[in-house]
Amino acid sequence: MKRIYLDYAATTPTHPEVVEAMLPYFSDAFGNPSSIHSFGQEAKAVMEEARDKIAALIGARSEEIVFTSGGTEADNFAVKGIAWANEGKGNHIITTAIEHHAVVESCKFLERRGFEITYLPLDSYGVVNPEDVKKTITDKTILISVIHASNEVGTIEPVAEIGEIARERGVSFHTDAVQTVGHIPVNVDELGVDLLAMSAHKLYGPKGVGALYIRKGTKIIPFMHGGEQERRRRASTENVPGIVALGKAAEMAQREMDEEGKRLITLRDKLITGLCQRIDHIRLNGHPSQRLPNNVHVSIEFVEGESMLLNLDLEGIAASTGSACSSGSLEPSHVLLAMGLSHELAHGSLRFTLGRDSTEEDIERVVEVLPQIVAKLRSMSPLLKSSVGEGVKDG
Ligand SMILES: Cc1ncc(COP(=O)(O)O)c(C=O)c1O
Repeated sequence: MKRIYLDYAATTPTHPEVVEAMLPYFSDAFGNPSSIHSFGQEAKAVMEEARDKIAALIGARSEEIVFTSGGTEADNFAVKGIAWANEGKGNHIITTAIEHHAVVESCKFLERRGFEITYLPLDSYGVVNPEDVKKTITDKTILISVIHASNEVGTIEPVAEIGEIARERGVSFHTDAVQTVGHIPVNVDELGVDLLAMSAHKLYGPKGVGALYIRKGTKIIPFMHGGEQERRRRASTENVPGIVALGKAAEMAQREMDEEGKRLITLRDKLITGLCQRIDHIRLNGHPSQRLPNNVHVSIEFVEGESMLLNLDLEGIAASTGSACSSGSLEPSHVLLAMGLSHELAHGSLRFTLGRDSTEEDIERVVEVLPQIVAKLRSMSPLLKSSVGEGVKDG
């Protein structure tokens, strides 16, 4: 049986060209970039080349890129680093109900230490209203943090509009762009952001490496203390092979993003249409058009997401019920609840995220298999009989 991977938002396979690019820096060219001998200087040179490529992908200057151990560290660094650097100025942070746990938990951590956090609401598509940001800013606001696009429902947020507001009011603005860098155009000036988090393993690079863009002049306190690496903004010997890989992944994304995006949108829409035609009591979550090219997130009534997932897995199809980080949790997604879904509907959710190796045949197979799984599960579900009696088309 051919296995079909449709969980690219959780992680992507490292592209063979990326693996090839990083391999020499484990062995032949293993130097520490802080060393002054030729081994060190060689490592430093390739690291700076990678920095240039990453900066080019997001319209930044190379010196504004700080390497981290991934998206989580970049988000923690942005939120806590800005909070600590501005303690004398204010203690109010604005974020939203659609953030990744890396931002949510950083904010909760600060909340327990006396910071005031506003979690802005979402509309039913998961969109944050920029007017809400405007209304919520006070003289004590030191940071606004809004995700660029949701890792769960795929909605793309109006970050550029919020960026304008942040700039007018002189408040630092962070965006978690882990799901967008390398997938849709990202330009730090057009978005008006001061900080932007990214992660290599979401764009065909390896796990455990990422970066934080920090606009020149932004006041921030380092998250890691120790040596003087990364212009004293992030201590620890740099992960040279990982950084080279992120650079290569960025270069490839810049070259291929437009065409790949168009291809994925066609497949995404085919999957949405196919599922909605063949399954009753199904709804698409997230914005119908302002969404990531590779994201299909649906809720299906009278079935459990976990049961669908396990049955899909038996058919060789890998999907997700939401974000990979919370898939071990029985709590329904905070994002879906904030969008107004009931607990029952939130529990009946499935996320398919497409990528490089996804084909039309893969989509056709999901459209063939999932309605059968739903029909089987519903036939065993007392919920369905008591709620609607009849009413299931063929799924
Ligand atoms: C939106 C978003 N932010 C942050 C992260 C965390 O990135 P990492 O796994 O590199 O720590 C993820 C990964 O799931 C994500 O999707």
